[in-house]
Amino acid sequence: MTRPTALITGASAGIGAEFARQLASRGHDLVLVARREDWLRDVAAGLATDCEILVADLETDDGVTRVEARIADGPPLALIINNAGFAARGRVATLDAERLATMLRLNVIALSRLSHAAMQRMTADGTGAIINVGSGTALIQIPGNAGYGASKSYVMAFTRHMQAEAAGTGVAVQLLIPGVIATDFHSIAATSLDRYPPEMVMQTRDLVAASLTALDRGEAVCIPSLGEVRLWHEWKTAEAALATNVSRRKPADRYRFKRNA
Ligand SMILES: NC(=O)c1ccc[n+]([C@@H]2O[C@H](COP(=O)([O-])OP(=O)(O)OC[C@H]3O[C@@H](n4cnc5c(N)ncnc54)[C@H](OP(=O)(O)O)[C@@H]3O)[C@@H](O)[C@H]2O)c1
Repeated sequence: MTRPTALITGASAGIGAEFARQLASRGHDLVLVARREDWLRDVAAGLATDCEILVADLETDDGVTRVEARIADGPPLALIINNAGFAARGRVATLDAERLATMLRLNVIALSRLSHAAMQRMTADGTGAIINVGSGTALIQIPGNAGYGASKSYVMAFTRHMQAEAAGTGVAVQLLIPGVIATDFHSIAATSLDRYPPEMVMQTRDLVAASLTALDRGEAVCIPSLGEVRLWHEWKTAEAALATNVSRRKPADRYRFKRNA
């Protein structure tokens, strides 16, 4: 029997490398995508499964095009994980515009294009699963985090639209919302994990195990540290109530101009 194959972006380190390890032990073959070929080969060397190494810089059009082509024209993929990402931090008044643009090319454009390629192929095949890696920072406004937090708000919104569109297609779409995870992400963002209390910091093995369990259970949104799932449903209910009030013929009473007042 053919083994299912999973494609993981950002598989050379951190969360992506852990997805590779856990999916290999679940019997998946893998397509590992990142820029550092030696790191990808190190990840693959530790796994008892077939690994295709696809070196691609997803900040570039060429890199994204080559991964799109693998998704569209290569052997079918059972699972695609849009995980590659980084944080360009800085207050809006002082941020580095070029680094912001680079981050948006990876966190937003590459994720959207690869989601498109995945949805197109999987919808045609009537089967498959996609995990898009968001972030808890999409829910919080922290000075210095506007660009990164907003990029992950985009991931959240885009993926929730994908979920609405995937209904009835046979394609499962998971939005994964990690909190603080112990990876190189923080040093690359020029911050330190040490600033977080240890009880806030999750290990990659726990995050990834939760995500794959959620996928098994068909949960659309996975917030691994969230004990009370009702909080997510209450948030969605509040959002829906607000949404029903944003489009009316007349402004609300407090904005009505009073003649001869
Ligand atoms: N760690 C956290 O606290 C945390 C929290 C919430 C969300 N997240 C999200 O989780 C995802 C994974 O982060 P992580 O914590 O595992 O960080 P990480 O350890 O720094 O790993 C990031 C991965 O992305 C790849 N990558 C970066 N730029 C790339 C590019 N231009 N093209 C292709 N691949 C690229 C890196 O590989 P190469 O450098 O070899 O290309 C690496 O494999 C990101 O989307 C991040 O925003 C992380």
